[in-house]
Amino acid sequence: MISDTSAFLTQFVRHPLATGAVLPSGLTLARDITAAVPRAGHPLVVELGPGTGAFTRAIQQRLAGRGRHLAVELNPAFATDLARRHPTVEVVRADAAALPELLAERQVASADVVVSGLPWAAFPARRQQAILDAVVGALGPGGVFTTFAYRHALPTRPARRFQWLLAGAFDEVTVGRTVWTNLPPALVYHCRRPLHRDP
Ligand SMILES: C[S@@+](CC[C@H](N)C(=O)[O-])C[C@H]1O[C@@H](n2cnc3c(N)ncnc32)[C@H](O)[C@@H]1O
Repeated sequence: MISDTSAFLTQFVRHPLATGAVLPSGLTLARDITAAVPRAGHPLVVELGPGTGAFTRAIQQRLAGRGRHLAVELNPAFATDLARRHPTVEVVRADAAALPELLAERQVASADVVVSGLPWAAFPARRQQAILDAVVGALGPGGVFTTFAYRHALPTRPARRFQWLLAGAFDEVTVGRTVWTNLPPALVYHCRRPLHRDP
């Protein structure tokens, strides 16, 4: 079976901007970014950009058979493989920007947690804004959003713009530790209390 690393590298060569990384995330980053998934109850967890499933496995471990896990992946090769490997995850081949419509189609009012594996620093401004609006629109008032950033890319303009957008979209944004063992090193933004715009 083709390894996650080579599958990821292949998709990076084919779609460098959308894939946004050469390697899948490591275990420690996966643990940090999925810590918001409750260990009790039946939450709806949405995962954006699962790729080869580094965060999918950690979410499934925390859910341990409870709740619902919807994974939204743009790349059909990743989506097909993920659905085959995780039959209990609802894998949708779609753009993360369509998240509110995807929930409405499933007659779901809101998500409890959104975990993002998206390459925000590779997105232009309009795309960052559109997907972040979709995330905020999909979360309930007590919902939590977690996403990661590569440490080396933090000074870049798209990464700084994304931080600024996060600060405007959530009442609380905290920055986790740097996971130096990740390749490349990365950190997690933990975002709480979405600021829903007035209709
Ligand atoms: C940096 S990779 C992360 C993959 C995985 N979460 C990990 O950490 O190893 C980004 C993933 O987001 C997906 N992606 C990019 N743009 C997307 C979009 N607009 N909607 C859904 N998925 C998207 C890519 O295809 C890729 O699987």
